[in-house]
Amino acid sequence: MITPASSFQPLIPVIAIDGPSASGKGTVAQRVAEALGFHYLDSGALYRVVAFATYQRNIDWHDANAVAECAKILQINFKNERVLLNGSDISNEIRSEAMGKGASQVAVHAPLRAALVALQHRFRQPPGLLADGRDMGTVIFPDAMLKVFLTASTEVRAQRRYQQLLGKNESASYENILADLQERDARDKGRSSAPLVMADDAILLETDNLSISDAVNVVLTHFQHKINNKSHK
Ligand code: C5P
Repeated sequence: MITPASSFQPLIPVIAIDGPSASGKGTVAQRVAEALGFHYLDSGALYRVVAFATYQRNIDWHDANAVAECAKILQINFKNERVLLNGSDISNEIRSEAMGKGASQVAVHAPLRAALVALQHRFRQPPGLLADGRDMGTVIFPDAMLKVFLTASTEVRAQRRYQQLLGKNESASYENILADLQERDARDKGRSSAPLVMADDAILLETDNLSISDAVNVVLTHFQHKINNKSHK
């Protein structure tokens, strides 16, 4: 469980991995974090928790201030890869397609994004942090040691999501998943507050033809180069 640190700790290394939904960045990010023994921040889970909590309280996802006020009083904890809201394990609930969609709707609101900044900074703990999201390298950790923008074509991402749902025995239509992804991409890229964009100093990693383990190795190699360059300065 993450215990709150008293202040922002800029010297602790951060690897920021941003990219669109279903690009595989979550799996890559977790494996890189494991390989390095780093903490892991799944920032998308925070927006999903807010979507879930506001839905439970009948708060309109379009109401920016009500959504942000609700988020401010939530107790969100991560424990052994489980997500706890006010002590209850809601890991499965927030992974639904509906909460993914809801997360992208609440995430457009600047007051909500501002309300979640300090919580995200508290994950920066020794020996380092792997931060996964949409604005990790651009807004939350602009001084990240390594920034990666991990992506894949919409069709490949839709196909991966479709296979994932079939694997969980959930009914799914490839066409609906593709349409949902396109809608979420457009919302994430088009919003005025912290839109999904590649940071100027990020490395682009296209995974259409790259396995998860190859992507992990590419990130680890780039990180090692950063460390080597730093120690030679
Ligand atoms: O990564 P995940 O699919 O769980 O994210 C759900 C939604 O949360 C995204 O579609 C995006 O709108 C939002 N999000 C965000 N900023 C982040 C992480 C996620 O706006 N750093």
